[in-house]
Amino acid sequence: MKFRSQRVAYLFFATSMLLFLLQIVFGFIMGFAHMGFDVLHDYIPFNAARTSHLNLLVVWLLCGFMGAAYYIVPEEADRELYSEKLAVVQWAALVIVAVTALIGFQFGWWEGRKFLEIPRPLDYLVVIDVLLFIFNVGMTAWNGKRFTTTSIVLLLGLTAAALLYLPGMITFDSQVIDSYFRWWVVHLWVEGVWELIMGAIMAFLLIKLTGIDREVIEKWLYVIVGFTFLSGILGTGHHYYYIGTPEYWLWIGGIFSALEPLAFLGMALYAVTMARRGGMNHPNRVALFWTVGCGVMSFVGAGFLGFAHTLPQVNLWTHGTIITAMHGHMAFWGAYVMVVLAMITYALPQMTGRKLFDGWMPEWAFWICNIGMLGMTGAFAVAGIAQVYMERKIGMDFLAVQEAVEVHFGGVVLAACLLTVGVLMFVFNFIQYGLPNDEAVAGS
Ligand code: HEM
Ligand code: HEM
Ligand SMILES: [Fe+2]
Repeated sequence: MKFRSQRVAYLFFATSMLLFLLQIVFGFIMGFAHMGFDVLHDYIPFNAARTSHLNLLVVWLLCGFMGAAYYIVPEEADRELYSEKLAVVQWAALVIVAVTALIGFQFGWWEGRKFLEIPRPLDYLVVIDVLLFIFNVGMTAWNGKRFTTTSIVLLLGLTAAALLYLPGMITFDSQVIDSYFRWWVVHLWVEGVWELIMGAIMAFLLIKLTGIDREVIEKWLYVIVGFTFLSGILGTGHHYYYIGTPEYWLWIGGIFSALEPLAFLGMALYAVTMARRGGMNHPNRVALFWTVGCGVMSFVGAGFLGFAHTLPQVNLWTHGTIITAMHGHMAFWGAYVMVVLAMITYALPQMTGRKLFDGWMPEWAFWICNIGMLGMTGAFAVAGIAQVYMERKIGMDFLAVQEAVEVHFGGVVLAACLLTVGVLMFVFNFIQYGLPNDEAVAGS
């Protein structure tokens, strides 16, 4: 690494890994419950497991984004981080909020509203914490020697993500209005501003790993950002079809969300083309695998599988079924999990000075994880299609259908085991790297 203060990113990455493992534990609890083995029901009911699974996912990804920003922004601004101490305080505060929320969920302290379940008092702490974070990276860029497109897009994405947390904190009496604004957070995050964060991290990694001129890589970043906003903002309408909002959303949501896959296709073509042009000869090949894999898998999970149920004629049948879970897993995996794992794979050797990317394990981890996730997605798809036909077309009872698809969750759990083996290998490699050290600082 270039600057000593970049090492603070390690704290965030390590926390990400820990929370990721915990998220998977809750995934298995639900997987088994869906198979009919809900043995933990009295201690961890399904709703607590689900909330924990989802919020852990969001927190560990945000933690990964923060780590990425603490690593990238000083390097792009060509100076030390504004305050390393503040970053440590901000990390500690984030961990305290996350642990409190997680324990609270197990005791029924939550708000409902999928993805936004964190109780209100903790929301305020999240806001303060994120403001500290934005201030720290913002000041680093502001006082830096140069302002690059990559860091501007990254900071814009992070700031917009912070602002878009607010609509989820307003209380409404009407269920429709509440749902309407919940999507401002959930949809505009993953299909809007998080894409900026993903695009910027990807651009940074492609610059480092392919050796191609920054100008070329950053020029395409603008195009992707343009496509994202053009399609993603009004694409929010694909969540407004059947929640009580006016009918014109069927058209607006259908048309604009159908264009969203183009942004993801752009991202995939971008990563593949740049990697091929660069000759794939960077020694840290596996970091490039994760980067290019992110482009490709996000197109499949978000673009292709998103499109599969985004038209109102289809969504009429699939809304809120296991089809949604199928898409949710692969989209989150391809776009955001993979970009964080790519960043970690690139940054660890830089921070520790150890080049452990050469062995068989990192590459096997990459393939096993991805094959596992493809398997899970397939199993969710089979369960989802069966559910839609039995429950919505034939009109069978909800619970009878849940029982009928139990067998498919055996498939989900088997594939999830494979994914978990890959993740454990990744984390093992992470631990092998050890802690960041001063010898790894360039020039020392
Ligand atoms: C990386 C980007 C994406 C992620 C992480 C993602 C993730 C998710 C998640 C978690 C849900 C469930 C939300 C909830 O019920 O609270 C969802 C719903 C949905 N997504 Fe995506 N998505 C992404 C991109 C897309 C794209 C590009 C499209 C369309 C082309 C799309 C179409 C949909 C639709 C139609 C639903 C509603 C499903 C229903 O009615 O139950 N998504 N997505
Ligand atoms: C490896 C073990 C995992 C297992 C066994 C698992 C299983 C499950 C189950 C059973 C559900 C609940 C579906 C329902 O509501 O009935 C769920 C929800 C969810 N999981 Fe996982 N999961 C795992 C890993 C992951 C990973 C790695 C991610 C991120 C990429 C993820 C993201 C999600 C999302 C976004 C939802 C909500 C889907 C929706 O909106 O319907 N899970 N998971
Ligand atoms: Fe959406």
